[in-house]
Amino acid sequence: MAIRLGDEAPDFTAETTDGTLSFHEWKEGSWAVLFSHPADFTPVCTTELGRTSALKGEFDRRGTKAIAISVDPIESHRGWAGDIGEVGGTDLNFPIIADPDKTVSHLYDMIHPAEGDTSTVRSVFIVDPKNKVRLTLTYPKSVGRNFDEILRVIDALQLTDLAPVSTPVDWTPGDRVIVSPAISTADAIDKFGDVEEVKPYLRWTPQPKV
Ligand code: BEZ
Repeated sequence: MAIRLGDEAPDFTAETTDGTLSFHEWKEGSWAVLFSHPADFTPVCTTELGRTSALKGEFDRRGTKAIAISVDPIESHRGWAGDIGEVGGTDLNFPIIADPDKTVSHLYDMIHPAEGDTSTVRSVFIVDPKNKVRLTLTYPKSVGRNFDEILRVIDALQLTDLAPVSTPVDWTPGDRVIVSPAISTADAIDKFGDVEEVKPYLRWTPQPKV
């Protein structure tokens, strides 16, 4: 069954490059980015996992843990780890799940048979500290993901969880935001001070400090 926004992220126990772990226990209290890649020792995947290692400080600042998965066995992941460090410039610093029996890949619907074979496509699940799925992305095997976008979405989710605002098109941290339709302009002025009403349903305010 498809995993939808707001669903509880399915729990699982799996072998990883950091040992056997249970997903909910491993991420307890943190945000998590669970992302699949098609295969070890492939070029796009090597750049993606290298970039994720290089961004560890950015993930840490956001209270977020990264975890990757493919259907390759653990020996393959261990053999590939050195290449990821070499290409990305930072040693592999997050777990890669080995899923040769495809249990987790099927649980998260990461294998799309019409895409050619029985390996995973490039799925992303952003999961919040309460284990709710907050964002899903699916990219084809030939297109690498933009990890700046993944960080940007985490920033937007964390901001909009803490203040009655939404983020507009192409928002990046520090840009102005949109006042939630759930509050009146008078209440928004009380709360935020600076509110510009362009339409009754479109009110801008500077990004609040949360
Ligand atoms: C890659 O990572 O380069 C890749 C893997 C599987 C299919 C296509 C590209």
